[in-house]
Amino acid sequence: MTERYVRIAGWGKYLPERIMPNAELADLVDTSDEWIRARTGIGERRIAAPEETTCTLAVHAAQAALERAHMRAEELDLIIVATCTPDYTNMPATASLVQHALGATRAGAFDLNAVCSGFLYGLATGSQFILSGIYKSVLIIGAEVFTRILDWQDRSTCVLFGDGAGAVVLRPTTTPGGLMSFVLGSDGSGACSLYVPAGGSRRPASAETVAERGHYVKMQGRDVFRFATRVMPESVMQALEAADLTTDDIDLLIPHQANVRIIDAAARRLKLPESAVFANVEKYGNTSAASIPVALCEALEEGLIEPDSTVVMSGFGAGLSWGTAVWKWQAAELQKSG
Ligand code: ACO
Repeated sequence: MTERYVRIAGWGKYLPERIMPNAELADLVDTSDEWIRARTGIGERRIAAPEETTCTLAVHAAQAALERAHMRAEELDLIIVATCTPDYTNMPATASLVQHALGATRAGAFDLNAVCSGFLYGLATGSQFILSGIYKSVLIIGAEVFTRILDWQDRSTCVLFGDGAGAVVLRPTTTPGGLMSFVLGSDGSGACSLYVPAGGSRRPASAETVAERGHYVKMQGRDVFRFATRVMPESVMQALEAADLTTDDIDLLIPHQANVRIIDAAARRLKLPESAVFANVEKYGNTSAASIPVALCEALEEGLIEPDSTVVMSGFGAGLSWGTAVWKWQAAELQKSG
């Protein structure tokens, strides 16, 4: 029997046009460009236009990924949308809205919420459908309009996040490579380190929850910082070991783009040179589930990934949750449709 592997056949990103520089935040809360840059590495972020939603951002990124894969939406078997800012809080799934907007008439669709680790959970899940031989085309999207759940009066969170979307199309191939290993983890004991207190079954929306600003993100920044700097290198090491590789084999680490200090700390622990670590947090802030696929697209655009490159993607976030994937990049293939 011929061996079956998964490959990324297409990729795409979408960032809203509106740029909000740090200076603009200093008009809203007691902060400064210097503080934000020094503590986070963030210089600006994108803000979705009023008519834009997570679905519309996702559709733009997906269309770009399909185009690059030379595929029509009708060929898709499955759509997974990783997001914690869905168009509707409870139902329907944003993935169904995306499926309809794309015209992906044959595809199943579901949302996945592992917050900032969501894209990696989606990548690991979607790959299984390809590797099992069940599906031939799976679209994984990480998309967020995170700025809609920010409290613009809370300087400890509103300076950190932004909006965006990234997508990949997974296809089967006989060329060795693709997903070499992955690690997914969760520690729900840290649930309240980063959460939105109200609007769910525990605390349904009411006049009181609105008055308490309970529908916005609350974060214990130092707890998340400690967790992230520990878990990212740990899970990278576990995933490398599972793939029978070492840090010397990493051509490019694409970490979740939350804070340049977290990225630098992980790179130091892994003893990786700066050139082997991708960072674009300066331009977009933390776009949650979109951060890794957007970074992957930019690394490809910048020519940092070539056939045979070993790319390690690693994310962490609310849950608390984390995920790492080791991906061996394959050469482009002439697309066989259908
Ligand atoms: N501007 C100016 N001062 C600020 C700001 C701000 N925007 N925010 C906080 N401060 C103040 C604090 O009030 C504090 O003042 P105090 O000493 O008088 O109390 C001081 O700055 C230092 O605050 P710290 O919280 O100790 O600052 P720290 O260096 O830890 O940086 C930060 C804070 C950037 C939030 C950091 O803790 C961090 O990045 N944590 C991880 C957050 C993260 O990555 N979250 C996303 C996870 S992914 C997901 O699932 C969404």
